Amino acid sequence: MEQTFIAVKPDGVQRGICGEIIKRFETRGYKLVAAKFVQSSEEHMKSHYADLKDMPFYGGLCKYMSSGPVFAMVWEGQSIVKLARMMLGETNPADSKPGSIRGDLCVNIGRNIIHGSDTLENAKREIGLWFKPEEMVTYTSCAQAFLYE
Ligand code: GTP
Ligand code: MG
Repeated sequence: MEQTFIAVKPDGVQRGICGEIIKRFETRGYKLVAAKFVQSSEEHMKSHYADLKDMPFYGGLCKYMSSGPVFAMVWEGQSIVKLARMMLGETNPADSKPGSIRGDLCVNIGRNIIHGSDTLENAKREIGLWFKPEEMVTYTSCAQAFLYE
């Protein structure tokens, strides 16, 4: 089954939104397979956001993302990379529809509370960057038979 990397950013952690985000993914029917509460280094964030290295906000973004704890997770489910991005909303909360996480819970592009992998390839890369294989849990959820035909 497809997996994606989701992280509550330092602003989401400080604002006490971790539980709300876990709740949205759980109630959608996704399965949590890894989670940890970490303060990342600036170097780690530079690798995480390497595809943005030429953008003017890259330095500030990496510094900010390493300024406080992040709640890092791997979620699993059908088409989760694409559907999680839809749940997040647009990069800019001002363009995000009500009902989406960013559309409901934040206002500023530089403080948009949550990260989600944008492609399956990046999901695999990011999961490898944040989690060791032994930190991932394999199990069958009892809800599985009721979520999928
Ligand atoms: P992530 O899930 O965090 O990867 O966001 P995204 O995929 O929606 O956007 P992208 O990867 O393009 O940018 C990464 C992060 O950089 C965004 O979530 C924003 O916090 C920040 N960012 C993107 N564009 C801008 C911008 O124009 N100005 C500022 N200040 N920050 C930006
Ligand atoms: Mg991105």
